[in-house]
Amino acid sequence: MKKDLLGIDDLSADEIYRVLETARAMREIGERPIKKVPTLRGKTVVNLFYEPSTRTRTSFEIAEKRLSADTLNIAVAASSVLKGETLADTAMNIEAMSPDMIVVRHASSGACHLLSRICRSRIINAGDGLHEHPTQALLDAFTIQQHKPDLAGLKVAIVGDLLHSRVLRSNVLLLTKLGARVFVSGPPTLVPRGIEQLGVTVSARIEEAVQDADVVMMLRIQQERMQGGFFPSLREYFTLFGLTEARIRLAKPDVIVMHPGPMNRGVEIASEVADGPYSVILEQVANGVAVRMAVLYLLAGGVEHETAA
Ligand code: CP
Repeated sequence: MKKDLLGIDDLSADEIYRVLETARAMREIGERPIKKVPTLRGKTVVNLFYEPSTRTRTSFEIAEKRLSADTLNIAVAASSVLKGETLADTAMNIEAMSPDMIVVRHASSGACHLLSRICRSRIINAGDGLHEHPTQALLDAFTIQQHKPDLAGLKVAIVGDLLHSRVLRSNVLLLTKLGARVFVSGPPTLVPRGIEQLGVTVSARIEEAVQDADVVMMLRIQQERMQGGFFPSLREYFTLFGLTEARIRLAKPDVIVMHPGPMNRGVEIASEVADGPYSVILEQVANGVAVRMAVLYLLAGGVEHETAA
């Protein structure tokens, strides 16, 4: 792997398979009575989250601790960011304390690329703006593989707020690299222009996307990123694009239902489906730890690197 994990865009299919294979070994560590190995002993990992997170931040911290790294969480709300310090200055000051890796979530697309250019530490993208959320796509692929070992040829339907979703972008890049057929659907106002160029099929109706699907992945309506009215009401959105039991019956009988979280129950997904027999949503969360352990391990084991100019 390269010095940093900035996006799925940078990974080859072989590198993705290597992460997934390593995650299988890491999952086994999580099943032991003592869930800890000395792999990252002496390494320091800083978790720098400028946006809220439950799953990603927690699973990175658990992954770091299971690998025996020294971990530090920067609480942005209690830091000098509130006094106006820029992202670059904050990162350079953290760098001065010689961490080995910095896990970053930021509202700006490209924030991790900026840090990659100025930091010696390895940078891991934990979600940057509308751009990418690579470890989410890796844990999603790992979860799919547990149910359907060969991703090539699978029909994957991704439905919801496509416009604001970094999870969509990372998943589309990964799934198409591994040969899956990706169908996307959402209200026209929430479909990014030119998305077909990523190799997906756009379906105007959720029913078309879900028909005979092996995997249905629902995306959250990101109201915090919406200024205007992208659709008339949440009730109408659920009527037109919500995943209901009736709609999931259009998919293959062994379909799995995914959601990266946090879920808006009754908006993009009915509770009966989220908690029903096809749902692997909590498996995704559990797999996040193993996949993030794999990423940390592979980045730490890479060759010595030079900081880009
Ligand atoms: N899936 C995801 O990124 O969840 P969090 O925002 O809780 O980290």
